[in-house]
Amino acid sequence: MRILVVGGAGYIGSHVAKSLLDEGMDVRVFDDLSTGQRINLFPKAEFVEGSILDKNALEKAMQGVDGVVHLAAKKAVGESMEHPELYAENNLIGAVNLLNAMVTQGVKYLVFSSSAAVYGMPQYPKLDENHPLNPINFYGFTKLEMERLMQWYDRLKGIKFVALRYFNAVGYDAGCNVRGLEKKPQNLLPVIMETLVGQRKEMFVFGDDYDTPDGTCIRDYIHVSDLADAHVRALRYLSAGNESQSLNLGTGRGNSVLEMIQTTERVLGKKVNYKMAPRRAGDPAVLMAVSDKATQLLHWTPKQSDLENIIRTTWQVYRLHYPNA
Ligand code: WQD
Repeated sequence: MRILVVGGAGYIGSHVAKSLLDEGMDVRVFDDLSTGQRINLFPKAEFVEGSILDKNALEKAMQGVDGVVHLAAKKAVGESMEHPELYAENNLIGAVNLLNAMVTQGVKYLVFSSSAAVYGMPQYPKLDENHPLNPINFYGFTKLEMERLMQWYDRLKGIKFVALRYFNAVGYDAGCNVRGLEKKPQNLLPVIMETLVGQRKEMFVFGDDYDTPDGTCIRDYIHVSDLADAHVRALRYLSAGNESQSLNLGTGRGNSVLEMIQTTERVLGKKVNYKMAPRRAGDPAVLMAVSDKATQLLHWTPKQSDLENIIRTTWQVYRLHYPNA
């Protein structure tokens, strides 16, 4: 199969490209390098520099491909509330362009990078795919709209899709094949790592008065290589003629912010300089996935998501960039 990975120079996209290459697929990466990085490209994959806002470039990139993985989206929740126009343009108009280019080029399979953000405030701690869809930020809204668009393009144009609703993506390829660090990260583990390497003087734990055992928020951290594996399986699932699906990807386990910090300290034998701070707006106390549907339909289970492996594989890459840390 020849697969176009749109956003394939980004953090998750590059891991997806690697997994597809490992499975012997032909990979073409399409990326505008706005947040993606050249260091994340693989010599074995063809690279086309272009934007999803450029319809002609997209159509051209789609020639001769059997399927598309779409991960080219803006993803900062806070920014999406301040600049919805950026998210509308990139995540919505870009997605429409992508679907239309698939129609024009006759590409039938799409694996889409969706998010747990489509659910909004959890009404119960472990979310399954039947949980109500009420995004509370504009980012989540754009992901949900794309899922709805895909449902219509399935009905009207026969494009089959799998929307993968990621929980908290963490970790790096164990073989250090992906080396790009995200610029100005806001997510917990990169913030912990930046504090360890001295890129930040200190970090803040946003809230210790939640209704959880240690008072800090609990999240479902899933290794990016496990996410990447699900994309390969989703493409196989679609090419076998199966129906479109939206699937959660998480471990079903949760770790608190303090557990993340303390486990990092234990595994790496280093102290993290952190302070307690007020709650961050819009953070639910607990967010965990039920991923039984992905297990049942894709025969997917997380294999690399134990916390120690997540921390070690992330640290490996930080050490490459900060050898004296
Ligand atoms: C995790 C926990 C913070 C930074 C986001 C999106 C979600 C999905 C994954 C893409 C929270 C706490 C964090 C810090 C902290 N993205 N924290 N200090 O918000 O669970 O999920 O990324 O689809 O849609 O919302 O991830 O890593 O930002 O936070 O205490 O400096 O760590 O408050 O409890 P989040 P996160």
